[in-house]
Amino acid sequence: MYTLGIETSCDETSCAVLKKYRVLANTTVSSLREHAKFGGVVPEIATRAHLKNIDRVLKICLQRAKVSLDQIDLIACTYKPGLIGALVVGLNFAKALALALKKPFVGVNHLHAHLFAPFLNSRAKLEFPFLGLVVSGGHTEIYHVDDFDKIRIVGQTRDDACGEAYDKVARALQLGYPGGPVIDSLFNPRYKNDFPFRCGRMGFDLSFSGIKTALMYKKMEIERTKKLDKKTKIRLISSFQESVVTTIVNTILDAAKKSKIKRVVCGGGVVANRYLRSRLAAEATDLQLLIAPLEYAPDNAAIVAGLGFYLYRRRARESNFNLRAEA
Ligand code: KG4
Ligand code: ZN
Repeated sequence: MYTLGIETSCDETSCAVLKKYRVLANTTVSSLREHAKFGGVVPEIATRAHLKNIDRVLKICLQRAKVSLDQIDLIACTYKPGLIGALVVGLNFAKALALALKKPFVGVNHLHAHLFAPFLNSRAKLEFPFLGLVVSGGHTEIYHVDDFDKIRIVGQTRDDACGEAYDKVARALQLGYPGGPVIDSLFNPRYKNDFPFRCGRMGFDLSFSGIKTALMYKKMEIERTKKLDKKTKIRLISSFQESVVTTIVNTILDAAKKSKIKRVVCGGGVVANRYLRSRLAAEATDLQLLIAPLEYAPDNAAIVAGLGFYLYRRRARESNFNLRAEA
C-alpha cells in the first residue's frame, strides 16, 4: 500500500511516498529565500512558487522512493489550514492526480498531521487518548485527542502564534528570517533572566503578542542611550525564549494534570527548538512524551501522507472531490 502525500499550506512544496507508515521519500522545496527580504511569507510569492515547483518535487520524490505513479494506491493532501492560494495549488493538483489515476483521495488537516510525526516509520506506538501540542508559525494549540477524527481544542493562542512571535522578534532585532532557528542557536541560558518578559496565559490559552511588544519597547529604550550590540540582542532573545518555553511547558504540564492524560504528543516547526525539547524532556518525567523527530517537525508531506493513510483505513472512505481549501 503506497500513499502519496502532498503539502502546500505555506512556503514548502512537499511530496512524500509512504509504504504504510514507512517513509520511502519526503521531498521538500521551500520558497523561504524569496520571502526573506520581506521578513515573512508573502502569500502571492508562495502560491506562484508552488505552481512552479510541484511537478518537479513530485518527480524527484517518486524517483527517490523508486515508486512509479501507477503504483500509488492513495493520494493524501493538506486542505486546511494555511494560505488559501497555496492550499488551492496542492489540493487541485492532488484531486487531478487522483482523478487521472482513478485512485482514492483524502483531505488532511495539516495541524493534526503535525501530531502524526512521532508515529512515522512506526517509531512510536499509536495509543489514545493523548494531549497534542502543535507549535508552529501559524498556530499554537493544545488538543485532547481521542482519535485523529475525535480532536477537541483545550487551549490555543489568543493572538500571535508562537513561531510568528519568534519571527517578529528576530526581525525587530535584525537577526534574519525565519527567526526560530536563529534565536534557538543564539540562546544563552546565562542571560535567560536578564529581562522580566512574560507571555500571557489565561487557563490553557496563551498570548505571545504582548511579550513581542515588551521586547520591542525594551529595545527602543536601550537604543535611546546606546547602539544595540550583539550581546544585548542575545540577552534580549534569551529572556524572550526563557519565558516562551517556560509558559508552553507549564501549560502542557498543567493540562496533563487536569485531564489526567499521561501521554503528550508534540509537533510543528517550533518543536525543533532545542531548549523547548530539553525542557520538555527534563520536566515531563512522569508523562510519556512523544516529540516529532527533527526531520518531521516542520511542514512536510510525510506527516500528511501518514495521517491520510491512517484516516483512510479507519474510515474506509475517501474525501469528497468537492472538498474545498480552508484558509
Ligand atoms: O510548522 P512550520 O514549519 O510551518 C507552519 O505551519 O507554520 O513552522 C514554522 C515556524 C516558523 O515560525 C519558524 O521560525 C519556527 O517554526 N521554527 C522554530 C525553530 N525552527 C523553526 N522556532 C523556534 N526554534 C526553532 N529551532
Ligand atoms: Zn505546520
